Amino acid sequence: MPLQHVALLDPQISLHHHEGKLRVWSKRYGDVYFSAEDGFQESMAVFGQGAELPQRLAHNSRFAVGELGFGSGLNFCMTLKLFRQYAPPDARLYYFATENAPLDADAMAEILAAFPQIADERQELVAHLPPRWAARHRLLLAGGRVVLDLIYGDSLQNLAVSDFAADAWFLDGFAPARNPDMWQDALFEHIARCSAKGAIAASFSAAGAVRRGLTKAGFNTLRHAGFGAKKHRITAHFRGGTTPSPRKPNVIIIGGGIAGASCAEALQRRGVEAQILESAPIPAPISANTASGNPVAIQAPRLTADASHDGWLSLNAFGYARRGALRAGAGLDAGVLALAHDARESERQQRIASLDLPHELVTPCTPEEASDLAGIKLNQSALYYPYAGAIDPRHWVKTLLKDVPCRYGITITKITETTSGIKLHDQNGDTHRADAVILAAGAGLAELWGGRLEPMLPLTQIAGQISQIPAPHDHPIKMPLSFGGTLARGGDGALVLGATHTRLKNAPTPQDMQVSDKLHHENYTRLPETIKPHLPPPPKDWQGRVSICAATSDHQPIAGAVGAYLYALGGLGGHGMVSAPLLAESIAADICQDAAPPTPLDAYMRRHSDPFRFNRRAGF
Ligand SMILES: Cc1cc2nc3c(=O)[nH]c(=O)nc-3n(C[C@H](O)[C@H](O)[C@H](O)COP(=O)(O)OP(=O)(O)OC[C@H]3O[C@@H](n4cnc5c(N)ncnc54)[C@H](O)[C@@H]3O)c2cc1C
Ligand SMILES: C[S@@+](CC[C@H](N)C(=O)[O-])C[C@H]1O[C@@H](n2cnc3c(N)ncnc32)[C@H](O)[C@@H]1O
Repeated sequence: MPLQHVALLDPQISLHHHEGKLRVWSKRYGDVYFSAEDGFQESMAVFGQGAELPQRLAHNSRFAVGELGFGSGLNFCMTLKLFRQYAPPDARLYYFATENAPLDADAMAEILAAFPQIADERQELVAHLPPRWAARHRLLLAGGRVVLDLIYGDSLQNLAVSDFAADAWFLDGFAPARNPDMWQDALFEHIARCSAKGAIAASFSAAGAVRRGLTKAGFNTLRHAGFGAKKHRITAHFRGGTTPSPRKPNVIIIGGGIAGASCAEALQRRGVEAQILESAPIPAPISANTASGNPVAIQAPRLTADASHDGWLSLNAFGYARRGALRAGAGLDAGVLALAHDARESERQQRIASLDLPHELVTPCTPEEASDLAGIKLNQSALYYPYAGAIDPRHWVKTLLKDVPCRYGITITKITETTSGIKLHDQNGDTHRADAVILAAGAGLAELWGGRLEPMLPLTQIAGQISQIPAPHDHPIKMPLSFGGTLARGGDGALVLGATHTRLKNAPTPQDMQVSDKLHHENYTRLPETIKPHLPPPPKDWQGRVSICAATSDHQPIAGAVGAYLYALGGLGGHGMVSAPLLAESIAADICQDAAPPTPLDAYMRRHSDPFRFNRRAGF
């Protein structure tokens, strides 16, 4: 079941400061977020000490926490503080949390300011807080040592499609009598399924139903004296589970575009040695056909009017990619206006507008509002995506590859799977050996995969020409636009108009790669009439670039294992600057068989990007 259009709840809180103490009251549930006596000490006693965090963090290089009911983030900040205090310097913390009524940054900052003990942690959390729409938001904190999956949505719905192994659980979903949804047997079963060996669950609630539920799911439950006015709290030790055994194989990645670079960065963050082999002579090159070598790309989600798996994957990947590009300093103009450029798009936009999605994600605009945002007269209504924007893909790729060993000018021509890893053969007859290999060769993936049968990878190569148009720095256009094509300003001030779309039947010929005036005219023709007078007509002073991307027959990416030690990330079509980073994160987690952090994808997204889906559909 796709979760794209799940509406989040209004948290409906009231804050009451009295004699230096803070009471956070939920009007929706009729309960407090934490003890009004001392929230921090309660968090420490019930969850920190309850789950034995100080001792366990000190002795584990990886630690995973699951929390149901993220609320103000107080428990998270407490955990982060203990992690900094006790964990070894190279340790990693993974924190999975659900929340169906997220607080905004101001409310969270105000609440957490009541606890000076976590001033640093509050600052870090609030600065990274994701926008509030239903999705799985993966956040990298503490320079990537801490991964927080902040899942905006219902606990049961989301835990049911998650796969990880928690060492500690914080069950913090208001009193069972006031919020029975957070204490269902089905939820306890998923808590058990997602528990590592030795997992300890902690809760402020010692209600009989909670103890019985946890016991039935496989925990030994103990009751302790409660904090403050509370009579009891509980801890529950898991009787089952396995211990994850992470791997650190040596990895070769074929291809140094956004897919390969994102995989390399995700592996490097996990302490895995990864090397890139790339045909082109230089990174994200301007001259080669590398799709990631364009000077500008748009990062915007592909929302679908019906709640679909395509829309869900795009929405989840979007936030992670956007934060990654901005962190790398690759951001250009922010915001994107998608114009209702024809009747079909107009109808689609009206359906999206009727979904009443959060304004932080998408805001419907009249032509006048759109004109104000764009800085240029527009005749169409539009959807405004405030979190979206234009980026410089070359800069992004270079930044991701900054510390990654890359060998340029090497084209892999053959792959041999052996019992102990993979052997790669290059154009010079040399061989390269790795424990695991990721195929991230963009349009080259089809050729590399060649006649292999398992799995089927139905890829089409698509050539696209962009037009680069010199423009004065005071050009009125203020925001990237999409209208069937796209128009955005590059880092050098030139406007980049794109892109043509030619399906290639065979491998690209030199002629396919030729920039042509005909294709400049094609790009120009697609422009809305009110914008044309602001640009010099083609081909006067227009430059261009042709590059190739690969798309699958269902227009969805391929991400995952295609053999015992072989992985593929490709078929990213015209959306790779959005989808690549999250999918790369998933491949890195699979390669390392790591629970901290695990794949950021839920079961729907995994199935949707599974390279074997074409075999499945064909009945193999
Ligand atoms: C014209 C155009 C405009 C686009 N605009 C957008 C946009 O606005 N927003 C967006 O999100 N996406 C956009 N895209 C899509 C996006 O650029 C691609 O999805 C993305 O760049 C693909 O990244 P990749 O790493 O898979 O492939 P690439 O960037 O093509 O990288 C693959 C690399 O593998 C190397 N390689 C291939 N075969 C071999 C081999 N055998 N051995 C060694 N190396 C090899 C290639 O040289 C290449 O450098 C656009 C694409 C095109 C073509
Ligand atoms: C007691 S508060 C949590 C306090 C929090 N742990 C903290 O550190 O501030 C309970 C939280 O659970 C959330 N919640 C309630 N029902 C939920 C559900 N079904 N799914 C996800 N979150 C839920 C509430 O919105 C609220 O933020």
